[in-house]
Amino acid sequence: MTERLTFPEGFIWGTSSAGHQVEGGNEYSDWWAWEKEGLIADGTVSGRAMDYWNRHEEDHALMAQLDYNGFRLGIEWARVEPRRDAFDLDVIEHYRHILQSLRTFGFKICLTLHHWVLPQWVAKQNDWHNPDTVARFLRYTKVVVDALGAYPDYWVTLNEPMVPAILGNFLGRLPPHRHSVRAYRTVARAYLQAHAGAYRIIHEARPFAPDGSPTKVGVAMAYPFIEPWGSRGPAGWCERFAAFVCRRAATWGWDHTIRTGHPHWIHGGPAVPGIRGTYDYCGINYYMRVSLKYDRRRRDQYRIDDTQTPPSVAVTQMGWQIYPEGLYRTIRAVWKRFGKPILITENGIADDTDAQRPRYIIEHLAQVHRAIREGIPVVGYYHWSFVDNFEWQEGFAKRFGLIAVRHDDPELKRVPRPSAHLYSDIARTNALTRDMVETYAPESVAAVFGAP
Ligand code: FCB
Repeated sequence: MTERLTFPEGFIWGTSSAGHQVEGGNEYSDWWAWEKEGLIADGTVSGRAMDYWNRHEEDHALMAQLDYNGFRLGIEWARVEPRRDAFDLDVIEHYRHILQSLRTFGFKICLTLHHWVLPQWVAKQNDWHNPDTVARFLRYTKVVVDALGAYPDYWVTLNEPMVPAILGNFLGRLPPHRHSVRAYRTVARAYLQAHAGAYRIIHEARPFAPDGSPTKVGVAMAYPFIEPWGSRGPAGWCERFAAFVCRRAATWGWDHTIRTGHPHWIHGGPAVPGIRGTYDYCGINYYMRVSLKYDRRRRDQYRIDDTQTPPSVAVTQMGWQIYPEGLYRTIRAVWKRFGKPILITENGIADDTDAQRPRYIIEHLAQVHRAIREGIPVVGYYHWSFVDNFEWQEGFAKRFGLIAVRHDDPELKRVPRPSAHLYSDIARTNALTRDMVETYAPESVAAVFGAP
């Protein structure tokens, strides 16, 4: 009987975050302004968030105490360049302290340059629709790489670029609430240019990572597992067509372009110079399966509903379908496509009471291990997230943290959930053992170790 799933030596057991969601006080950003327009579901604003800006030392110490050995964090462009051409050196220095502290604790650092949020002055100049924005982003990138480039083990140029491209520009669900195919394509192409430029800047300035190995630059792509619902007749054809288009819009189009250098029809041309081969590893953000169901009433979404769940499939508080096998299938597909080492840059669940999280972690890690057993080089896993945080338009009501923090608690006290200890046990032993599964999620024993 298998007693444990052991991970490769040196595997990274980290947690993942984004500046705007935890730092607090990102007052020159576009999101800061939008939040004040009453767009957030629970009526909150990011405000001081989790005050990571000031409490980073305390957080890093807690991570170390729990034996986590990696951290993914972001730099906020709006902080670094609050006004056009005015770079704030104190802010850069502050980020250096944060990174130095992570280094002192010995964490593997994964650094994101752009996680959806723009400075207000960029938003006002028509964000990624203004051809000047890519050049501005690359200038900011150069400043960050020159000042802080000694620290990251992994670079993420862009976080989930296709999410704001689709949800913000095509479906209008996220700011800036645009509703057009053209807007989606313009933003997607701008992101491709931004990524290609940032990739080159980092490689030129920093050919080596802190451990002396070649530098590692990639993107953190959102890979929802998209499937047609399976209706009969014409409704079924529509669903299959929707899945065909959505997969390309969400991931395949991007993947095709960075792999081959050729534009994909979903984004349109022209080719982006220097885009080919701009990945040293593949960052996977994986949360859920999405089933696309024909519904003629959903005119706002081209008659496709993506919020329905097939019977007997569990969902999270976000309403997201839990589908651990999708992580394995995604890793396998990405490996086939790129043949580069894979880093899980995000995976996690909104679960206030920690009722579902231990099982979620265990069953997803079992799928990561399944990929590793097949010889796929998965080098690390960054769980989303360390502390509860500002979950974009959901506000603070959706809680993704291994560590609970109430945003309305004056002390912002950090309280580890049982999952934090489970993840600690896994990280310390570099394995998922039968004991752990029996203790934290006995219902998963068969899924992880097979039926007795
Ligand atoms: C991802 C985002 C991240 C967080 C998680 C829950 O799509 O990258 O910032 O909000 O979802």
